Amino acid sequence: MPRFTLSTFVALAIASSKVYAQDSSSTSSSLIPLASKHFDYNNLPYQADPDNGVRGTQFGYNRCNSTTENQSSLCQTAIINSIDDFCLWGPPTGPTTIADTEQEEVAWCTKPGHGTRLIPAGALKGVQFMTTPDYVQVVGFIDQTFIDLEASDYGGELDPHGADFRGNPLGGLVYSTAWSNGSGNYEQVIEWHNFMGGSVFCFKICDPAGPNAANYCQHIYDRIGCAYNAPNNAQNGTFETCQGANQDFPGIYTDSAGNIQTYTQPPESLGAISSIPYTPKVPASSNCVTYTSSLLYASLPTSSVVPSSTGKISSSIHTSSTKTGSTGPSNTGTSSNANGSSGSPTTIALSSLTSLVGVALAVFILS
Ligand SMILES: *[C@@H]1O[C@H](CO)[C@@H](O)[C@H](O)[C@H]1NC(C)=O
Ligand SMILES: *[C@@H]1O[C@H](CO)[C@@H](O)[C@H](O)[C@H]1NC(C)=O
Ligand SMILES: *[C@@H]1O[C@H](CO)[C@@H](O)[C@H](O)[C@H]1NC(C)=O
Ligand SMILES: *[C@@H]1O[C@H](CO)[C@@H](O)[C@H](O)[C@H]1NC(C)=O
Ligand SMILES: *[C@@H]1O[C@H](CO)[C@@H](O)[C@H](O)[C@H]1NC(C)=O
Repeated sequence: MPRFTLSTFVALAIASSKVYAQDSSSTSSSLIPLASKHFDYNNLPYQADPDNGVRGTQFGYNRCNSTTENQSSLCQTAIINSIDDFCLWGPPTGPTTIADTEQEEVAWCTKPGHGTRLIPAGALKGVQFMTTPDYVQVVGFIDQTFIDLEASDYGGELDPHGADFRGNPLGGLVYSTAWSNGSGNYEQVIEWHNFMGGSVFCFKICDPAGPNAANYCQHIYDRIGCAYNAPNNAQNGTFETCQGANQDFPGIYTDSAGNIQTYTQPPESLGAISSIPYTPKVPASSNCVTYTSSLLYASLPTSSVVPSSTGKISSSIHTSSTKTGSTGPSNTGTSSNANGSSGSPTTIALSSLTSLVGVALAVFILS
């Protein structure tokens, strides 16, 4: 378990993100919302968003192939298929922050063949690939300096919405074989969200045929990170696939009196979020299978950037037993769990500065 220093907690507590999926760009009514644009994977346009809107033009392209496949690729078509075949959104050049590049992010993937960049070997420190009735999510730990993010960036949310409906990144598309019934056919994922930053990530894709895709892949809780948007029990150093139950919709919770409540995320103008009135339930999961990362990610290049750590992952192959939310690490920010406070730029704000300092001191004393 990593030891977070007091200064880390203070720094985290005072950090405030400028990242919003719902950014303040004005709406251009002539534009068709990105989430309403549907394309056949085998016949993708060069750009899903060829318009020149308030935020300019799409940075990269969606038609990605062997010609575009290198570490300068500007492919903005992301794939989420399996633990060894998924992509994350990251900056085209860096080191930088999600806040500064959210509309330009490009796909960084674990496997060749998608016309994208590859996440350099050693970047992924732990990954949990969870299949549920209504969505699939991949959550993990990453040395984000390998994908052009500043080590200190607490990042933010990427999703196909935004105040101008053009998405972050602009024109970013997501495809998956998750619901192709084994045929291997790619389907466009209409609703998805991806939180990047704080050395963790979570990328959830919602079944396009599911009645609640927009709810499970809700995009309005962009300040409260993976713990609240994709509650999970992923472990640093572990690479596993699991089956799980659906989570509660992000922002929906049952209070102590048993009433169902909806959390309202305060606007950034009110400052850091000092408390959140609930702790999300981590859905039960089962049939977890663990993998050796070097076998999962055998085709990845070494990094051209200097990694901030060189720790090697090793894990054994075994089948684990049923997991429940109660067995994982807590949300105190003291654990390495991706549902913890390191999961987003502002998840850390889920506790007051005072209690974070208290936690840090407690950890110090107990360690
Ligand atoms: C490969 O992708 C590039 C960039 O989108 C595009 O210009 C080119 O036409 C594509 N090549 C083929 C054979 O589709
Ligand atoms: C990557 O591919 C593009 C398109 O073919 C090419 O223009 C560029 O020079 C390549 N970059 C690298 C670093 O190979
Ligand atoms: C997979 O099967 C389900 C149930 O038969 C069907 O509703 C769905 O359209 C199929 N998906 C694809 C991509 O063929
Ligand atoms: C984090 O996970 C633990 C167990 O896995 C759970 O008890 C806790 O409520 C979770 N916290 C959040 C914020 O999801
Ligand atoms: C995950 O573990 C690696 C060591 O393998 C460590 O360098 C990194 O800081 C850990 N990440 C988090 C978020 O705790």
